[in-house]
Amino acid sequence: MKPLVNKIVCIGAGYVGGPTMAVIADRCPDIDVTVLDLNEVRIAAWNSEELPIYEPGLAAVVSRARGRNLRFVGQTEGAAHVAAADAVFISVNTPTKTDGEGAGKASDLRYVESCARFIAAHAKGHTIVIEKSTMPVRAADRIKSILASAGLGVTFDILSNPEFLAEGTAIRDLEQPDRVLIGGERPEPIAALAEIYRRWVPAERVLSTDLWSAELSKLVANAFLAQRVSSINSISALCEVTGADIEEVASVIGTDSRIGPKFLRASVGFGGSCFQKDLLSLIYISESYGLTEVAAYWQQVVDLNQWQKHRFADQIAAPIATAEGSLRGRRIAILGFAFKKDTNDVRETPAIDVCRRLLARGATLAVHDYKVTPDSVASEIGTQGVEVAATPEAALAGADGVAVLTEWSAYAKLDWARLAGMLKAGAVIYDGRNIVDAEAVRRAGLTLRSIGKGGQFNT
Ligand code: UDX
Ligand code: UDX
Repeated sequence: MKPLVNKIVCIGAGYVGGPTMAVIADRCPDIDVTVLDLNEVRIAAWNSEELPIYEPGLAAVVSRARGRNLRFVGQTEGAAHVAAADAVFISVNTPTKTDGEGAGKASDLRYVESCARFIAAHAKGHTIVIEKSTMPVRAADRIKSILASAGLGVTFDILSNPEFLAEGTAIRDLEQPDRVLIGGERPEPIAALAEIYRRWVPAERVLSTDLWSAELSKLVANAFLAQRVSSINSISALCEVTGADIEEVASVIGTDSRIGPKFLRASVGFGGSCFQKDLLSLIYISESYGLTEVAAYWQQVVDLNQWQKHRFADQIAAPIATAEGSLRGRRIAILGFAFKKDTNDVRETPAIDVCRRLLARGATLAVHDYKVTPDSVASEIGTQGVEVAATPEAALAGADGVAVLTEWSAYAKLDWARLAGMLKAGAVIYDGRNIVDAEAVRRAGLTLRSIGKGGQFNT
């Protein structure tokens, strides 16, 4: 039987739109997939061998589908594709608003709205418009009212199909998702989209709900995940003062099937483009419905995360600061700048807050990361007092202190016996990810302080 959706367009070739469309095109060779973006530089990169984002497995998927049924084009060229499309995904960024009503909390829907206007201007016949970007609940109402301006005979269905992929494992998450969620108002468009995912996702994992539940579920899923990180991070502080070990505690509580073992890694704090933005959006929505206690509950997840980042920076500073608290003349090696391993993404990375706090006290930083470019580091923390090192060794040379901020696997294998002589005498290693080889550090005669390892803080 001929599929109901033969031609797909996706507006937004970012961390979500690019990999998602590449996997759909790979799994459905008979469906024509076009990805549009306003950013021509990004489109040129998607059409080159140097893809604009680093994601394990992505290059192979793109190379199988690109030039066959997957293409990346600039937005102006995309108008004709929208006209011919059966379904258009909106996968543009929805950052926290920086001005106007809800500034600092509400999601900024201006890019989503401009996509809706673009679709209204160019669509022909009937088109399914799919929210892939994370939206505040009831955002579909705004999209609908914009689409209503389209010409006579042009009709739409709106679906919410939020993405649950995590960066660094995006391809695996897309190929073997825990679930695919499709929210809508009528069964036919839901079935049309479900039919695509069912090509590779077991039917019982393709869930359907009403529109508002789908929009809200995405925000709530991210809020619950972030809450787990803040919960375990709050306990990491308690472990450090009591002598308990956060990894032991996490592993014990994780064996309770009601709690489960995942997402219990204590860290310097959560980062990434989604958690904070989505928490703030949930807080704003709760406030705007007068649910003050609900808003305050989720605000605490954000506040605890901020506190954890500052707490970690202050620990690094404590043994090397002057009596007045200055870090002038102190060099600190920062190992890892990405918000997690296996990505080059620095959006909301905890490294930004840690580094800024150390820089504000006058420290000099030597930053190393395996995938983050010097330009990305500079755009987040500037260049004043910041050196970007090409290797971990170069960052560590002459350092008064070391901070591990990203859990790159290679940092777990550093040869501390060899590196010890490069550090200043008495330099302490602060592990914000619990990956450093504690035994190797001890043998090298160095001091290690890992998040939530009370034994190390009590010696
Ligand atoms: C996604 C989601 O869509 C967002 O809602 C979610 O919360 C996080 O993940 P992401 O793919 O990570 O966003 O964003 P980004 O990498 O910034 O990509 C968005 C792309 O959309 C950019 O390449 C931008 O140039 C493009 N864009 C933006 C357009 O093509 N048109 C616009 O009008 C606005
Ligand atoms: C998240 C959600 O997992 C994903 O479903 C959603 O679609 C987008 O937001 P992402 O931000 O890419 O994905 O990565 P994730 O693996 O969730 O990590 C987020 C942050 O939490 C990272 O900074 C990570 O280091 C931190 N984290 C995660 C911890 O500190 N401890 C943990 O146990 C897990």
